[in-house]
Amino acid sequence: MAPWCFLLVLVIISAEPNLCSGSRKCVGRHFGHSSVVCECNSTYCDSIGSVPLPPLGQYSSYLSSMEGSRLEARQGQIQVRTNGSAPGLRLTMDPVQKYQRLRGFGGAMTDAAAINILSLSAGAQEQLLQQYFSSEGIGYSVVRVPMASCDFSTRLYTYADTPGDYNLVNFTLAPEDVDMKIPLLKRAQAMSPQPLHLLASAWSAPAWMKTNGALVGKGSLKGQPGGKEHKAWAQYYIRFLEEYAKYNLTFWALTTGNEPSAGLITNYSFQALGFTPEEQRDWVALDLGPAVRSSSFPQTHILILDDNRLLLPYWATVVLSDVHAARYIHGVAVHWYLDSFVPAEISLGSTHHLYPEYYLFGTEACAGWSTGDRGVKLGSWERAEQYAHDIIQDLNQYVVGWTDWNLALDQAGGPNWVKNFVDSPVVVDAQRDVFYKQPTFYSLAHFSKFLWEGSQRVGVSASEETPLEFTAFIRPDGSAVLIVLNRSSDVIQFEVWDPALGYIPCTAPARSLLTLAWNTLNTH
Ligand SMILES: *[C@@H]1O[C@H](CO)[C@@H](O)[C@H](O)[C@H]1NC(C)=O
Ligand SMILES: *[C@@H]1O[C@H](CO)[C@@H](O)[C@H](O)[C@H]1NC(C)=O
Ligand SMILES: *[C@@H]1O[C@H](CO)[C@@H](O)[C@H](O)[C@H]1NC(C)=O
Ligand SMILES: *[C@@H]1O[C@H](CO)[C@@H](O)[C@H](O)[C@H]1NC(C)=O
Ligand SMILES: *[C@@H]1O[C@H](CO)[C@@H](O)[C@H](O)[C@H]1NC(C)=O
Repeated sequence: MAPWCFLLVLVIISAEPNLCSGSRKCVGRHFGHSSVVCECNSTYCDSIGSVPLPPLGQYSSYLSSMEGSRLEARQGQIQVRTNGSAPGLRLTMDPVQKYQRLRGFGGAMTDAAAINILSLSAGAQEQLLQQYFSSEGIGYSVVRVPMASCDFSTRLYTYADTPGDYNLVNFTLAPEDVDMKIPLLKRAQAMSPQPLHLLASAWSAPAWMKTNGALVGKGSLKGQPGGKEHKAWAQYYIRFLEEYAKYNLTFWALTTGNEPSAGLITNYSFQALGFTPEEQRDWVALDLGPAVRSSSFPQTHILILDDNRLLLPYWATVVLSDVHAARYIHGVAVHWYLDSFVPAEISLGSTHHLYPEYYLFGTEACAGWSTGDRGVKLGSWERAEQYAHDIIQDLNQYVVGWTDWNLALDQAGGPNWVKNFVDSPVVVDAQRDVFYKQPTFYSLAHFSKFLWEGSQRVGVSASEETPLEFTAFIRPDGSAVLIVLNRSSDVIQFEVWDPALGYIPCTAPARSLLTLAWNTLNTH
């Protein structure tokens, strides 16, 4: 084809005019739960495409609901009214009140996720990755990568299982990395319009470095911080960064280890490495911090905790009040399990107010983890609400990013070698070569598709008591985004008031999630 033919094709594509260009409808399927999943295959998957802003003076809205809407797009006129306020509920934007800036949203490339994605045909794999990472997808920019095995693996391994290998001369990535996770990460990166922020977490040190001589159960590193096991464990992180760098995969951040409190529990059933906050503080100060600083990757962020947020603010006060540890640390990573036990203002809010220079970041969450509400529930709207509720709560308490757990699971919620089956926003049926996008997928999309990196949370307040949950942001281009969750079963009318522009009349249907976006004259 002559070069001008390419030009012509490009012009035709980019000339597509309206808001919903490239949008494809959800193929809904019911599995006996409260709402539907959207079915995708090797040739078809629903998408809202790209979401350009409407012209100044108009707003766009996207609605998902238990009734079956999935990011249903509308456009409307921002109203100008001169005679004072209307009766009823009003959400008033206050862009002068500025809070944290966002990093991003994403999920985890576990062994299980990789196995499930690769169990599909090449075409369906591509569709699935595009749903998360391409510009047609929901804007994921964060991927958590487990270092070696976790419960969502099919076997127990680390990268240095040769006993006594303190210099890590036999450190080797696993076939799970080389054949599955790395190729998928590279495909995700290639289709992403932005560099992905990779985040590494280890579940357990090699058995020979540990007091219990095993990857599972109660156990910590042998010896003391500054000792040879603690040094070797810090070097293990550096070796991991070096090996992934050989594939051009560079990590934005690493955590001090997944759920350190799990390794303090007798007979804990899967991979864990126990740290008390004091041990974590001293290991960072004496071993991990200096190792990262003197490595080829000194800019890598170090996030502490990587465990349930109810351990805050206590954990942070122990680690961050120590200047020797704190100088190496960038942020505090939180998981969502047990969130309901401690109000977010206490766990997250007070940590932020005590240590405002360290950011808070959500590194793990999933539905279907608790006894009584276990495993995959295809079409559960309640779980979409759990996600949106938690994300809004986190964002309103200074969290700068939210990372889901497995990017994809099978219909049983695995594989998981210890049968700790849970749910995922994408559930794969390899037999039929299809995947189902759960309500949780859309719940995440209401945030991840619209809240770009660098978006800044701003003030928003309700004129009266309301069960609505909401959070507001100004994006780097000056546009505004407001996300509203209605978990109750009535319809409520309200309006959004942007003092610079006017008001947007809204309806939050029962059991719904709404994202509004509009241009703001760049006055903020
Ligand atoms: C994929 O799904 C679409 C929409 O449901 C359908 O028209 C098409 O036949 C499916 N393709 C395959 C290969 O099953
Ligand atoms: C002001 O607006 C309200 C509703 O928006 C309307 O009911 C009322 O009649 C208006 N008042 C005047 C004086 O225009
Ligand atoms: C590394 O592994 C080889 C066998 O694969 C073994 O001979 C050697 O002793 C190991 N090195 C260390 C330091 O453990
Ligand atoms: C990494 O990137 C460099 C430069 O972009 C390229 O030359 C090299 O082939 C890449 N290596 C791998 C393993 O992809
Ligand atoms: C831990 O496991 C051992 C061996 O199976 C058992 O004897 C012991 O009672 C267990 N302890 C607890 C606290 O469950």
